[in-house]
Amino acid sequence: EKGPFKHFMLKEIYEQPQVMRQVLEGRVYKDHLLEQAFGVAAAEVFDQVKSVQLLACGTSYHAGMVARYWIEELAGIPCHVEVASEFRYRSVVIPQDTLLICLSQSGETADTLAALREVKGRVLSSLAICNVPGSSLVRETDLSLMTNAGPEIGVASTKAFTSQLVALMLTTLALARRHGLSSEQEAEIVQNLLALPEQMQDLLKLDSQIEEMSQAFAEKHHTLFLGRGSLYPVAMEGALKLKEISYIHAEAYPAGELKHGPLALVDKEMPVVAVAPKNSMLDKLKANLQEVRARGGELFVFSGDRQSIQQEEGISVISLPPVSRLMEPILYTLPLQLLSYHVAVIKGTDVDQPRNLAKSVTVE
Ligand code: M6R
Repeated sequence: EKGPFKHFMLKEIYEQPQVMRQVLEGRVYKDHLLEQAFGVAAAEVFDQVKSVQLLACGTSYHAGMVARYWIEELAGIPCHVEVASEFRYRSVVIPQDTLLICLSQSGETADTLAALREVKGRVLSSLAICNVPGSSLVRETDLSLMTNAGPEIGVASTKAFTSQLVALMLTTLALARRHGLSSEQEAEIVQNLLALPEQMQDLLKLDSQIEEMSQAFAEKHHTLFLGRGSLYPVAMEGALKLKEISYIHAEAYPAGELKHGPLALVDKEMPVVAVAPKNSMLDKLKANLQEVRARGGELFVFSGDRQSIQQEEGISVISLPPVSRLMEPILYTLPLQLLSYHVAVIKGTDVDQPRNLAKSVTVE
């Protein structure tokens, strides 16, 4: 039931601090990962993994895109990510000793299942990261890690995404500890994961500010979402959420690509949303944002650095509290979920049941 919330989507956004606890429960102990959580056969598989292939659709694909940044940085092994509907129909080259990771909230997405069936015999092992125990995906993979997010009713995926990200970080740790990640580094990441519920709680306090900001989008027809590094998939997820429930055309770009084309679209009718945590890419991103301002584009920035990006004519800023670098994609997702939710509410769309979409896409 929705309780005090007007829509399931909002309820599910607000459940995320608790969902973070659920996905970590029994998977970490004090300062380390408990890899038995992946099943008894998992350790032997992890020992042999030399590359990773992630497959998924929609929001789950965006989670996979974030994980690629983590796996290649922390485990130092090659990681590929692809939408299942493309992967299943092309001739793929699968490196030796590949761990196939299928990501799906429902575990019933037709393309993801078909892609799994297509390559199952050619990989070292397959792992499902899934929210539905007993689903087809879980039954057909060798290993599984449940995201424990509880039933997700809103068609727009919210808590499923952030719980997938945590599950993917746990998977990254399992791989990385075999490839040079020190126990100190692992301890630090585990601490960061355990801090997520509280940090999410703080972010939810930005809700009314975000609601106010959302007014500026209601009359617009197009928007651009920008991010760099692991925040690029977060921008993609923000854009998907907005188009899915508010029916406003939204596109995401890695900010460095702006001048290779999309800048031509920018004018005062094209709001540009940027996710801008305080990290080593911030200066680059700021330069990209200046390019937008110079063309009259209105900026809406979720910023981790109060000093360097100031609110002024044409730039609306929502400041986020400091967050640890590897957790940025998980935490910066929340304000974007809230933004799309409030825009949709203003537009009066059916938030939980957007037109033309189904919660689970069981046909191709
Ligand atoms: O159940 P799955 O995670 O496999 O579903 C994949 C997509 O259909 C799903 O994430 C879809 O993109 C969401 N409605 C997005 O909010």
